[in-house]
Amino acid sequence: MKKYNIAVVGATGMVGRTFLKVLEEVNLPAESYTLYASARSAGTKLPFMGTEYEVKELNENSFDGIDIALFSAGGSTSEKFAPIAAAKGCLVIDNSSAWRMDPEVPLVVPEVNPEDIKKTKGIIANPNCSTIQAMVALRPLQLKYGIERIVYSTYQAVSGAGVGGYNDLKNGINGEAPKKFNHPIFSNCLPQIDVFLPNGYTKEEMKMVNETRKILGDDAMRITATTVRVPVFDCHSESINVELKTPFEMAELRACLEAAPGLIVEDDIDNCVYPMACNIVGKNETYVGRIRRDESVDNGVNLWVVADNIRKGAATNAVQIAEKYIEMVESGEMEAYHA
Ligand code: A2P
Repeated sequence: MKKYNIAVVGATGMVGRTFLKVLEEVNLPAESYTLYASARSAGTKLPFMGTEYEVKELNENSFDGIDIALFSAGGSTSEKFAPIAAAKGCLVIDNSSAWRMDPEVPLVVPEVNPEDIKKTKGIIANPNCSTIQAMVALRPLQLKYGIERIVYSTYQAVSGAGVGGYNDLKNGINGEAPKKFNHPIFSNCLPQIDVFLPNGYTKEEMKMVNETRKILGDDAMRITATTVRVPVFDCHSESINVELKTPFEMAELRACLEAAPGLIVEDDIDNCVYPMACNIVGKNETYVGRIRRDESVDNGVNLWVVADNIRKGAATNAVQIAEKYIEMVESGEMEAYHA
């Protein structure tokens, strides 16, 4: 089996550090790991794989000899360096939003559309955190019943806004004014994630709409979203209302979700069991509960979907893309990416 030279770009960041944890857990067939960040943290030592790795400054030569690079260093770094890496024959798995809607770039959740990995021209995009967990729950229903319409309402953790978001909640408890958000997040819900667009939706909301259509391969799917930041440190929760194309039996629909890869059904209302953010921190899977018929429409169902936004919503999904890519190359299903 080939051994791969793997780079982590943005290794000192919140997602970058989780990349390292997930990489330790999955143990890819790696020849080497190289950790990159900006000049600010060059020389920093990070514990990884039972030893210490020195972080190097990212530059145009950083991808010489690298086979796979996991990026989470912000949109502008990805815009500049992902094409440089790809031109050197390095497959980029990018966590930023820079390349997601590029028609040449596959947008992948490995449980949902692994075949799209084969279409890569050097960059594969990791979807938005809120989109990823929704896809894991919705794909099995799409395959079995078809999807007519989706209504997303999210309850998103402050860790999605990085360290600044974390600090606003932590310090807000002591009455400090927010620095990252426009308004206090402690004891509050903010119906704004990212900036507003001309149609009155936020960028986060339109990411969910557009990325869902791209991943599920249906440009005309009817979707609406309201995304809300809530005073929770980790894990995004989502209420998802779906209208299916065909009638369903509840028991059969539940069995379909139970059989879905990467999805865990936690739904026992007699015992007050349902997915909760506080129980899902550090988990790689997506959880679904409160599965019930929407009695107000034909073929409607309501779901409550929770996942760790830094793990499955970012680092875990990206590492799983790398795992799937390696598996496909090794099984001969696809050729290894080369420039
Ligand atoms: P650094 O620690 O040197 O600033 P977060 O999203 O948690 O803020 O993390 C962003 C990550 O991206 C950090 O590892 C940060 O490194 C890295 N980063 C930011 N700008 C650049 C850049 N121009 N080149 C390389 N890495 C960058």
